[in-house]
Amino acid sequence: MKKAAMAALLPLSALIYSYAEETFDVRQHVCTATRYDVAKDIPGNWSLPSSIPDTCTPIHLNLVARHGTRAPTKKKLKELNDLATRIEVLLQDTKEQKLATQKVPAWFWGWKSPWKGKLAGGELIKEGEEELYNLGIRTRDKFPQLFNEDYHPDVYLIKATEIPRASASAVAFGMGLFSGRGNLGPGCDRAFAVSSESCATDIMLRFHDCCHNYKAFLKKQEPTVDKLKEPILDEITDKLRRRYELNFTRQDIYSLWYLCKQEASLLNKTDQACALFTPSEVSLLAWTDDLQLFMLEGYGNALNYRMGVPLLQDVVQSMEQAIKAKEEGLAPGTYEKARMRFAHAETLVPFSCLLGLFLEGSDFEKIRKEQPLELPPKPPQRRNWRGSVVAPFAGNDMLVLYSCPDNSSTKYFVQVLHNEHPVPIPGCGNSDVCPYEVFMSSLGSEIIGSDIFGDQHLKRIIRRSNSRCKANVAEKSSIWYKKNALLWVDRAEL
Ligand SMILES: *[C@@H]1O[C@H](CO)[C@@H](O)[C@H](O)[C@H]1NC(C)=O
Ligand SMILES: *[C@@H]1O[C@H](CO)[C@@H](O)[C@H](O)[C@H]1NC(C)=O
Ligand SMILES: *[C@@H]1O[C@H](CO)[C@@H](O)[C@H](O)[C@H]1NC(C)=O
Ligand SMILES: *[C@@H]1O[C@H](CO)[C@@H](O)[C@H](O)[C@H]1NC(C)=O
Repeated sequence: MKKAAMAALLPLSALIYSYAEETFDVRQHVCTATRYDVAKDIPGNWSLPSSIPDTCTPIHLNLVARHGTRAPTKKKLKELNDLATRIEVLLQDTKEQKLATQKVPAWFWGWKSPWKGKLAGGELIKEGEEELYNLGIRTRDKFPQLFNEDYHPDVYLIKATEIPRASASAVAFGMGLFSGRGNLGPGCDRAFAVSSESCATDIMLRFHDCCHNYKAFLKKQEPTVDKLKEPILDEITDKLRRRYELNFTRQDIYSLWYLCKQEASLLNKTDQACALFTPSEVSLLAWTDDLQLFMLEGYGNALNYRMGVPLLQDVVQSMEQAIKAKEEGLAPGTYEKARMRFAHAETLVPFSCLLGLFLEGSDFEKIRKEQPLELPPKPPQRRNWRGSVVAPFAGNDMLVLYSCPDNSSTKYFVQVLHNEHPVPIPGCGNSDVCPYEVFMSSLGSEIIGSDIFGDQHLKRIIRRSNSRCKANVAEKSSIWYKKNALLWVDRAEL
């Protein structure tokens, strides 16, 4: 009763704001540090209800997944230790100047990094293991027709990058996928193969690491991105200085935002570093992270995603082989049913861009015309490009190839799932299900060539990305060329 009377006195806008605050879950706004379970169910129109007809059967699955939740990297461990020192200095200054300390957040006193003393970082942690393990189980449950066969490495191909958190993610996924199917231990586990390329030559899954020109681009672009973020950071630094009466620097705010992301994601703790910021400040900080992701890994520069063409090629090739196997009526166990890859945000983000995911309005047409895109709009405007959806821990794209009863000319369909939800494919009228031929041409004439089967354009594009993307030394680049040449030969033979 009393509450209602109070509320009646408040202006309507305040009511809406407090409602927004109540439902604001900071764990959904921590960009690429977002946990998969949180990210998977972030609402928004980035996903659609599935429209695949019941009469269709999945015949092949391609998966591209990011590794699961990991510990902070070594560099970040140091940044957090430095933050503890900085906080001490700030408190000391306040005491020396005999300033009031009642506004200082209580946890600042004596705060130490939760990872203090930890020397090595970056590994997959137990939460990350669970993300991938459960994804493996859900994938098998969702596609029983694909995972009903005995394990054979040619039927279920599992690849990971050489980075331990990615290969450990592949293992966690496989343990879920094949759980109960073997003879090992009480869980009836079974062994399975995970293959990796050396980092230096992994053009499918770690292209960002073997692309010399991309590294040069990053170096050049980083100051531009910082410039873009600075005004927002400065504004928030200023607000926090006044709110807590501490002389924060911009770097302090960067570090506190980083701490908030780690606490929210790794420790499920939102009432400490995250509570320093208001929801609207968190939204702005998340936006600055998203701008960085957009410019350095996403649509902000064509090189970012053109590097992913060999990976897309690999996906296309696996679908073509699956169709061929179906057409020829090969015996079960003699052809591949799933190709599953475990890598990094730097792999998943460009791959999603090649598929045209998370574009706004007329962006797809702009990309086709090679026009630059606008940056993702600033909050409170809504945007599709959100790091927490695009590439959370264990974030993934699945391309499911379906065979449908042959009552017309279209027999094969592709459905794209992002974080397990069907997503609109811009090249396919924003439907989640696309006739195979339409899907192939939707991959963007400018990226893959509308003459995907004819291939002249495709060869030109690959040649172009090769010359843009020279590997570091002669030996590596010869492997790079050989691989692409092999892809062409395979395609020409089809
Ligand atoms: C998603 O919703 C926003 C408004 O919230 C709208 O501008 C946008 O066009 C929608 N996108 C799709 C693909 O429906
Ligand atoms: C705050 O710190 C800056 C340098 O980081 C210094 O120039 C300034 O004098 C300090 N202000 C107060 C009130 O201590
Ligand atoms: C995280 O904390 C919230 C409460 O703040 C709780 O509801 C949720 O179950 C926790 N999640 C995990 C994974 O512990
Ligand atoms: C083919 O199947 C679709 C439903 O999947 C149906 O709408 C259509 O009428 C069918 N066409 C023919 C020629 O039977």
